[in-house]
Amino acid sequence: MNSAELRQKFLEFFEKKGHAIIPSASLIPDKTDGTALFSTAGMQPLVPYLLGEKHPEGKRIVSIQKCIRTGDIDEVGDDTHLTFFEMLGNWSLGDYWKQESIQWSFEFLTKELNIPIEKLAFSCFAGDENAPKDEESAKIWESMGIKKERIVFLPKEDNWWGPVGDTGPCGPDTEIFYWKSNDIPTPKTFDSTDKNWVEIWNNVFMQYIKNASGEYVLAEQKNVDTGMGFERTLAILNSFENVYETDLFEPVMQLFPGFTNERAKRIITDHARACVFLISDGVVPSNKDQGYILRRLLRRMMVHMRGIEHDIFEPIKKTIVIYKDVYDLSEEKILPVIKDEADKFEKTLAAGLKAIEKIDVINGKEAFLLYETYGFPLEVLEEMRTVANREQFFEELKKHQELSRTASAGMFKGGLADHDPQTIKLHTAHHLLLAALQEMFGKQVKQKGSNINSERLRIDFLFDRKITDEEKKRLESMVNEKIQKGLDVVKREMPLEEAQKIGAEMEFGVKYGNTVSVYFIQDSKGNVISKEFCGGPHVSNTFELAAPQGEPRPDGRGPFKIIKEEASSQGVRRIKGILK
Ligand code: ALA
Repeated sequence: MNSAELRQKFLEFFEKKGHAIIPSASLIPDKTDGTALFSTAGMQPLVPYLLGEKHPEGKRIVSIQKCIRTGDIDEVGDDTHLTFFEMLGNWSLGDYWKQESIQWSFEFLTKELNIPIEKLAFSCFAGDENAPKDEESAKIWESMGIKKERIVFLPKEDNWWGPVGDTGPCGPDTEIFYWKSNDIPTPKTFDSTDKNWVEIWNNVFMQYIKNASGEYVLAEQKNVDTGMGFERTLAILNSFENVYETDLFEPVMQLFPGFTNERAKRIITDHARACVFLISDGVVPSNKDQGYILRRLLRRMMVHMRGIEHDIFEPIKKTIVIYKDVYDLSEEKILPVIKDEADKFEKTLAAGLKAIEKIDVINGKEAFLLYETYGFPLEVLEEMRTVANREQFFEELKKHQELSRTASAGMFKGGLADHDPQTIKLHTAHHLLLAALQEMFGKQVKQKGSNINSERLRIDFLFDRKITDEEKKRLESMVNEKIQKGLDVVKREMPLEEAQKIGAEMEFGVKYGNTVSVYFIQDSKGNVISKEFCGGPHVSNTFELAAPQGEPRPDGRGPFKIIKEEASSQGVRRIKGILK
């Protein structure tokens, strides 16, 4: 099946079920929205209607929405991650609910697309203090002939969607997975951690509104919001290993037959497409917001194209041809913008390359200077050199630019730009985790970088091997134990020298000012569990991290959980953790 057929099948199927077809909205959200730089999901342009405003087309809507997600930019080049993608979606605005939504998704996949039922598995929301377990969805799947072994219940981090930004419509979801391996037979039982199961469709039951105080309140209007990844689904239907084999990319990939760096080829192809659509929606390269993302994508593409016997317009022109029947993309509008940026980049690239000729490792501060002087986006520099202390880059950037809240939320997720309650809790958990790592592996485990947002914490630290599953469990219990103990968190200002003398943890390789603040985590007898240089903010007692509302959890386990452990660079490991 080719892309045109899938588009048509999807729209027609839902049109027959009473949905009005609406065109994709712009990649750039309305200014009034203010929570995101780009449309990241099909529901985003529909937020006013999800909140109760009457949609002129009625209560059932279907669309194919252009989206950009920059969070996965480092993963672009693998089989499935993309910056620009299209989302197939259907919506009920206060109309049908779980039964119809699930039934139609099932019918579309198995009858229209002829996907064998044996290849599918499903996840539903497990329930928590905010919303009950979604038995209803599971029952509906079962009534359609799905075996119990193919349905799992997962917590909020897996089976809850939204809001976009801090507040707005959200709710539990049920997700549909496809077994992608052609070689390994589909297992009887669904294990959601097996990477051969890829998520293809997400049906969100938007029954809640997250308000400014972080509470989930029942919405007056119950909506259904679904999203199916267009490129992934297309790849699956053709039994392709990766999205670049589909007709949406293949003609661009074919432009460079002699070029053997597959990852670079994919990055060029992905970025060319994102740039075409961004420029078409009115973005021009700049040092701010969407313009900066475009600049990064364009320059990164150009860096990867250096040394190939092709001009940068080839993948751009080819992309425009691929989409000519679907979107109104004009060469006259797009090419001059690219030419202009290419000229600018050309001039600075030569000078910049000369400046880093003899340097192998660059620190974050120097990286910022290169960015400022030569216009090297950080990722572009990272393609060529090792950048140590990359957090410094962002600190410098912040000093030099008054970044809008939107930009900091969308582009530089984390840091400590946002001070919402969950971020603050995760920040304290971060200190507890570093202390636990040192207790377990010794003081030489130094922090090498960190990044915290309202969803998760991330810590990079000097350590040269994988952490075993057993060690991860122990780390989790060590942190959870400290949380349950109700330790005080106290801040003290002191001269740098004194802080160094008492051995407060500082980030490896970072320079500090003359007066620093140090956060102590200690028990009532004054025994210090953690002392770290830090600007805060933090909770005042670790018990605030225990959920729900400081009561012992029914499952007897603590809130802290490690969700990922991986290598970050040579000799540096990275852990991502959450508070449930
Ligand atoms: N809004 C939901 C998603 O993006 C459907 O997955």
